[in-house]
Amino acid sequence: MNDNIKKGLHGIIVDETTISQVMPGINSLTYRGYAVQDLCEKCSFEEVAYLILNKELPNKLQLKKFNKKLEDNRNISTNMRKTLKHMPKKAHPMDVARTVVSMMGLEDKESSNNSPESNMQKAIRIFAKTPTALAIFFRARKGKKILSPKKGLGFSENFFYMCFGKVPSKEIVKAFDVSLILYAEHSFNVSTFTARTITSSLSDIHSAITGAIGSLKGPLHGGANEEVMYMINKIKKPENSLKWINKALDNKDVIMGFGHRVYKKGDSRVPTMEQYFKKVSKIKNDKKLLKIYETVKSIMIKRKHIHPNVDYPTGPTYHLMGFDTDFFTPIFVLSRITGWSAHIMEQHASNKLIRPLSKYSGEDYRKVPLLNKR
Ligand code: COA
Repeated sequence: MNDNIKKGLHGIIVDETTISQVMPGINSLTYRGYAVQDLCEKCSFEEVAYLILNKELPNKLQLKKFNKKLEDNRNISTNMRKTLKHMPKKAHPMDVARTVVSMMGLEDKESSNNSPESNMQKAIRIFAKTPTALAIFFRARKGKKILSPKKGLGFSENFFYMCFGKVPSKEIVKAFDVSLILYAEHSFNVSTFTARTITSSLSDIHSAITGAIGSLKGPLHGGANEEVMYMINKIKKPENSLKWINKALDNKDVIMGFGHRVYKKGDSRVPTMEQYFKKVSKIKNDKKLLKIYETVKSIMIKRKHIHPNVDYPTGPTYHLMGFDTDFFTPIFVLSRITGWSAHIMEQHASNKLIRPLSKYSGEDYRKVPLLNKR
């Protein structure tokens, strides 16, 4: 391959950002300068969402106002509720997420206003309404009674309530919050770059987030957390794990939840998420998943020197919390809406149309033959 071609834009710096920094050398990730581990320990997901969107952590009053705004915007239109109830029950919830954000664009009176103020308000509306829409689909496809958002509940609590009809223990909510904090932002990953590319033509935030959801769905990106669970299900029992992973590696299979384009010595988010996966396993009194998890991980590191990425611990954690496997990537969406929105606003603030070049390798220049000679 021509050396000038950087397939997958590997190693190419395409723009600047002030939102997050991935530092593979020291295994670190910061949002607006704060280490994610520190944010997980000291902040709620709402505080981190505020930080990503507004560049600084909120004070008490700012947080109160932000939470109120989220609460006030949680309801979705009657039309969207009806549409959700009629969506195919077998539809993948990522397709539902993509469709509802697109539909929010149809309903939003400011949909084509790309001013920073309008984009911030639309970002908050999308962030507040998407969990409601997904929780409605979660219950509707099981034929369960649809629940409305409940006042006084935090972001994660309300999502649990709307999916399961009750809020779990504080420890489970904290583990879920931590997963959302870790998923919120990760610089120029493929879905964020998709969002920025769509924005670069001066398109709107709903279009950019709709496109980003389509990109996140793929198993090489966000879809990996679901694939991890399908893999664990295939392994079935801890006793099978060693044989299963060795056979998969002999077959040169790609093991989902492992490897990363940027981190080569381990994903900085994994130790934190692993700690919460262990806590949830203990609360749920489940040793099976953790044993399978540990065996596959140790063989991957021993045989391939490839470390897990954050999707590896989130998959089984969400399973233990009771979520259906095909809801794992939509949960990622709920969180990443914050990162995407910040990038969309950043792109608008300093825009340059994204338009790379390609090297042509098709037919030589030729003339169209006359019809009767073809
Ligand atoms: N399982 C097995 N082998 C893997 C692997 C995995 N998960 N990830 C990378 N490798 C191997 C590749 O086969 C390749 O081997 P080769 O050089 O012998 O051909 C080598 O490691 C380099 O991988 P490559 O795919 O070129 O790296 P990349 O930077 O383009 O890919 C990913 C990064 C994320 C696409 C890749 O690691 C992957 O497919 N992981 C599984 C999906 C996943 O978990 N995605 C979530 C990412 S957060």
